[in-house]
Amino acid sequence: MEASGRQWIIPAMKFFLDTADLDEIQKYASMGLLDGVTTNPSLIAKTGKTREEIIPAICDIVDGPISAEVISVERAEMVREGLVLSEIHKNVTVKLPLTEDGLGACRELTAQNVKTNVTLCFTPVQALLAAKAGATFISPFIGRLDDLGDVGLEVIEDIREIYDNYSFKTEILVASIRSPQHVRLSAKIGADVCTVPPKVLGQLVKHPLTDIGLAAFLADHAKANQ
Ligand code: E4P
Repeated sequence: MEASGRQWIIPAMKFFLDTADLDEIQKYASMGLLDGVTTNPSLIAKTGKTREEIIPAICDIVDGPISAEVISVERAEMVREGLVLSEIHKNVTVKLPLTEDGLGACRELTAQNVKTNVTLCFTPVQALLAAKAGATFISPFIGRLDDLGDVGLEVIEDIREIYDNYSFKTEILVASIRSPQHVRLSAKIGADVCTVPPKVLGQLVKHPLTDIGLAAFLADHAKANQ
């Protein structure tokens, strides 16, 4: 609390949708739930359309950061590809892999005011390097760590602590989310963004007691108005 008694205004955790499916994006955007969208080459391949067709269409639906991933692996090529992607729309965020070339490209694109999302991050020190390279977002993949028997959320805790120690502005974008618990615990840790697959966003909305309660209310209303 401030001395005036007013609470500090801390931005709420943002929700991005982790998909290239335009129908799902439209559905959740129309509920006002989406602050952005993340895609990757695998998600775009599932749509049967090209990245160049899908990214502008997503930008038309959601007014927030839209991640489009480079497919180049060499630094200069990544920069060239990133600049082309950034020309598609002002909201395009260039997604770069956490490799030496990717970090170099991140530095160069940041210097040219292009927003970046450094992806395929699996350790806190990788995240530290991405922040030093000027990344706008860092994407630690917690579900893939859990799949190996690690605890992905511990990586998020460590990154939060490290970024806060040094006041890095890079936003922690929790990726590879598999469950509502991942979202709940990411929010408790203070992650900046969760990118959730449509299935998990649907699970976040639903609770069986909501359905049972609604059915009972409607039944009582129907009885009372017979
Ligand atoms: C997001 O940016 C990532 O591409 C995505 O969350 C990866 O998720 P997955 O591990 O379920 O493929």
